[in-house]
Amino acid sequence: MVERDVEKTIEALLEERRTFVPPEEFTKQANVSDDSFYEQAEADPDAWWASQAERLHWFQKWDHVLRRDPPHHEWFVGGKLNASYNCLDRHLEENGERVAYHWIGEPGDKRTITYAELHRDVSKLANALKSLGVRRGDRVAIYLPMIPELPAAMLACARIGAAHSVVFGGFSAESLKDRINDADCKVLITADGSYRRGGLVPLKQSTDEAVKDCPSIEKVVVVQRTAEDIDWIDERDVWYHELLKDASIDCPAEEMDSEDMLFILYTSGTTGKPKGIVHTTGGYMTGVSSTHNLVFDLKPEVDVYWCAADIGWVTGHSYIVYGPLANGATSVMYEGAPDHPDKDRWWQIIDEYDVSILYTAPTAIRTFMKWGTDYPAKHDLSSLRLLGSVGEPINPEAWIWYQEFIGGGKTPVVDTWWQTETGAIAITALPGVSTLKPGSATRPYPGVFADVVDEKGESVGLGGGGYLVLTRPFPSMFRTIFGDDERYVKTYFDKYGNETYFPGDGAKLDEEGYYWLLGRVDDVMNVSGHRISTYEVESALVDHHGVAEAAVVGRKHPKEGETIVAFVTPKGDVTGDESLMKELREHVGKVIGKIARPQSIIFTDDLPKTRSGKIMRRLLRDVAEGRDLGDVTTLQNAPILDEIRAKSESQKASEG
Ligand code: PRX
Repeated sequence: MVERDVEKTIEALLEERRTFVPPEEFTKQANVSDDSFYEQAEADPDAWWASQAERLHWFQKWDHVLRRDPPHHEWFVGGKLNASYNCLDRHLEENGERVAYHWIGEPGDKRTITYAELHRDVSKLANALKSLGVRRGDRVAIYLPMIPELPAAMLACARIGAAHSVVFGGFSAESLKDRINDADCKVLITADGSYRRGGLVPLKQSTDEAVKDCPSIEKVVVVQRTAEDIDWIDERDVWYHELLKDASIDCPAEEMDSEDMLFILYTSGTTGKPKGIVHTTGGYMTGVSSTHNLVFDLKPEVDVYWCAADIGWVTGHSYIVYGPLANGATSVMYEGAPDHPDKDRWWQIIDEYDVSILYTAPTAIRTFMKWGTDYPAKHDLSSLRLLGSVGEPINPEAWIWYQEFIGGGKTPVVDTWWQTETGAIAITALPGVSTLKPGSATRPYPGVFADVVDEKGESVGLGGGGYLVLTRPFPSMFRTIFGDDERYVKTYFDKYGNETYFPGDGAKLDEEGYYWLLGRVDDVMNVSGHRISTYEVESALVDHHGVAEAAVVGRKHPKEGETIVAFVTPKGDVTGDESLMKELREHVGKVIGKIARPQSIIFTDDLPKTRSGKIMRRLLRDVAEGRDLGDVTTLQNAPILDEIRAKSESQKASEG
């Protein structure tokens, strides 16, 4: 025991004892109701993944399931398929009239798009792209708001074998330019503008600013969304609707090799130049179809499924577009902000469309907690039967709140760990069989093999904390970083060698082998020689009834290595004052231990976040240390940092 303590890389301090067994009624109807898939996949992972690949339509079947060449692997070698065909054509005969998307615009406009209609639009756009000179193997940039033309554009690219690179519509001209140039895109598909929180986002203006420095772009296709006045460059710009008007509806899908690139997606990392994550066709489609079916327990005939992410992130690629469409699901797609016109917009949508499955991020859940329970209480949410979480560790209190106030205390909550790099969910509960523990993503998906290891790569064993690793390739993993394979090898396979993928996350294994993700290893603090994850201290803070959200960082200290600084957002009606500070310190001491008590607590209405909602602890570290701020280009809510900095400085002064 003593020996293992010394070897521990990250302390596992927080103990969450609540468990939730799957409701019997749920298990009875579930797509997974026993452990047989786990057993099959454990015994013969290749055969398991081949069985999942059979969910797709292949023009030609593969010769080999897996060709290993660490750290480069190929899946379903020799197989031919098309992602767009799998998402559309094969549903037409039986389910062409099924709704693919119930789309809701922020201002209140609505569209219902069936599979047949989506197939028609995609085919036309695919032909139109060809007429603009886009060929198999080219790259197309897509910079669109959450409108139906976005999935259509992705599928049109896939149909003709061009890789898409979707750039989140909230990114600046500068970010767009860098991504277009890195991928050498030939065409850009954008919109005149979009709506956000009642305001207009001038997308075409950012496009014009970016594209003037993008020599590879030959044409810009513009969707008319807001009909605001925009600048127009005749020889370069073309309206989407005009392009489609004359395009033929007949566009057979290209037969793509399983290993042909489907898309590039730049990661929203908090530091460094964005990495162009490359996903290929056969493996990715297998992973998203399989996980979307089993993790969300999908019943495509009856479920109304809503993944409330933006398609600009991998969550949207995999679980708004490719996974749900491959599975013939009916999805809700919403364009705008959760608080427009009021803070109950999501709940109103769930009520109106009888949404049965909701997938969102802890950051959204904590925001809803801050707004209070009156908003969800105004609506009938009883259609919900399953909830999912992704993007960050979910604090146990947020998990419980989500289940109680959104799920009516009855729905399973599946916490799903994965990354842009893994393409599909990798560690997760399966709702019909997993006993849930709030805050734990439970265990690896069938066919995914993981471990928690120390600095030297030795397993820490049950009860230990350390680094998460994935020890066997699986189909949906990315293949490389676009144009920089050296960086691919160095970033992910340097630490433990070519056979072991290092995702960069800390984790602990509990005595029952459950995985508890502890956030990025860059965020781990060193307090008096103890490596403590920020997540655990944050969870202890959120566990207090007055706290909606918390971010914790380490501040260098001459004696203790680092001391803990906490930035805390109280719930709506709670005041952040001296007495709350004292209470919170005591609370953390009680929940985790004295070692984890924050030395300073700063109350703030909001926390600095990336555009995908992840807390930017790096910037809070800069604030805590009184340094100049590092790179802020991915920051969503810049003004809050000035406020936090002012409070931090005055508090430091008063602490002497
Ligand atoms: O740190 C992990 C965290 O998000 C990272 C991946 O971010 P991104 O590539 O933007 O993809 C987000 C959507 C899949 C991971 O390395 N993360 C994601 N999901 C979880 C999580 N951390 C803990 N629990 C999760 N469920």
